[in-house]
This record gives sequence, structure tokens and C-alpha cells, in this order.
Amino acid sequence: MILKPQQLEQYEQDGFLILEDFVSAAQCDAVRARTEALVEQFDPDGVRSIFSTREQTRTSDDYFLGSGDQIRFFFEEDAFDEDGNLLRTKERSINKIGHALHDLDPVFNGFSRTAQLAQLADDLKIDRPLLLQSMYIFKQPHIGGEVTCHQDATFLYTEPLGVAGLWFAIEDAVIENGCLWAIRGGHRLGLKSRFVRKPEGGTRFEILDQSPWPQAEAIPLEVKKGTLIVLHGLMPHMSRANRSAKSRHAYTLHLMNAGCHYPADNWLQRSPSLPLRGFI
Ligand code: FE2
Repeated sequence: MILKPQQLEQYEQDGFLILEDFVSAAQCDAVRARTEALVEQFDPDGVRSIFSTREQTRTSDDYFLGSGDQIRFFFEEDAFDEDGNLLRTKERSINKIGHALHDLDPVFNGFSRTAQLAQLADDLKIDRPLLLQSMYIFKQPHIGGEVTCHQDATFLYTEPLGVAGLWFAIEDAVIENGCLWAIRGGHRLGLKSRFVRKPEGGTRFEILDQSPWPQAEAIPLEVKKGTLIVLHGLMPHMSRANRSAKSRHAYTLHLMNAGCHYPADNWLQRSPSLPLRGFI
């Protein structure tokens, strides 16, 4: 086992777990360098997809909805001027890349499929884990957008609930550059919403519980490069905008239990040509 019994107990109690030095600086640098190469190859002309957790209409476009089995690039909300031109270089404008890096890119595949992570999933009692989605998140200097309080199970809903998030710090994450914030024990508050595809096209939030988050209880999770934060699928978490001069790169991977039902109206879908796979 990788996790000690008291760490498992803490995860169950808190809904998150911080594992320092889980990956090496060299591993972080390798995915970062690969990301730079992917961005270099990316032609932003004609692609103006913005990622925002506040405006659902902006996340309903085909480019976003078709990204479940692709490597696609989403811009920061503040990346453009009024005429739709990039205010900065594309390297300094992209919010994130998603959502099948781990299946389509050899470097991300190698980072995501290790014996260590398979053991971690086993320790977390994720039976027959499947790698559901991956994202490389930039949290760009000055324009890195806020991510409002949410539960990952809202976006990756299963029956029964069986999703865990793995959040790797590719750079140091502190309050100043927009680290994660979490509500300790908040995974016991129940699922508040689901983000689903509408039958007529587009997406909507299906509200299950209207009550607000106890956001005053949120604590910052400041971590060093190489740290892995394990997030329970029901863990309420968020991050503030990054107005500092430093980026805050992170890589996230979500796992689901293969025995759980994955509904057809979840926003994230795959074509049969790229089925979900586990660690092998
Ligand atoms: Fe999240």
C-alpha cells in the first residue's frame, strides 16, 4: 500500500488528501515540456472556445462538447480584446487543455499510467479504475480565471457516486497564484447539481440542492511542485483568479469505478472508437 491507514482515515474524514513529493520534478518538467510542444503545434485561428465556470452558455459549444476523446485547447475568459483578437501570445492565453491527453499523448499516458497510481487507486478502494478525463490547467499569469466552488461529481456523475480527482501540482501553488481551496468535510454535504446535455443540444445545470456552500469555511491548499492532491468526487473546491505574475500549472486526472453506471446525459462523452481504459 502507498497510503497509511491514518491517511485513508483522513481522506474519509476531510474529503481530500495531500501527498507531497508524489511525482518528481523531472516528471513535472516532462509533462510541462510536452504541453509547450502541444501548444506550439496548436493553431488558434478559428478556435475561440473559452472556459468559464460562471457562464454555462460559453461552455456549450461543439468544440467543448466534443472534447471528451480529443486534445482540445480552451482560452482564458480575459484573453481577447473586444474584437476577438488575442491580447497576449497563445502560450499566455490558454486556460486549459482537455480531456483525453492521457489516452492520446504518449508523454501524458506515461505520466498517468504508473504502477504507483494504480496502487493508489487500489488503496482508495476504487474497484477496476477507469481513467475518465485529463486536463492540463495553466492558471495563466494576470488573467488566470476564477473557478467557482464546485464538486467534480457535478461534471462527472456516476451511479452510485464513484469518482475521484487527482490534482498534480506541476508548479508551486500558493494563494497568490490561485491555489486550490477546499471545504474540509464538505464531501458529506451531498451532491448539489449535475451538468448535463440537453436533449435539444447544449448543456444545463440540473439543481439537486439549492443551499449555498459554506464558503467561509474554505481553506487554501498551498502545495509544492510534485504534490498530489486527491479529491473526493463530492469535495467542494474552488480557486481564485490569478492576478500575479506567476503561472500555476496543474495536471488533473479523474478516475471512476468501472462498476458504476455512467449516464448518457453526462456532458463528457466518448466515441466508441476510444473506449475508457484503466491503468494498463
Ligand atoms: Fe474540480
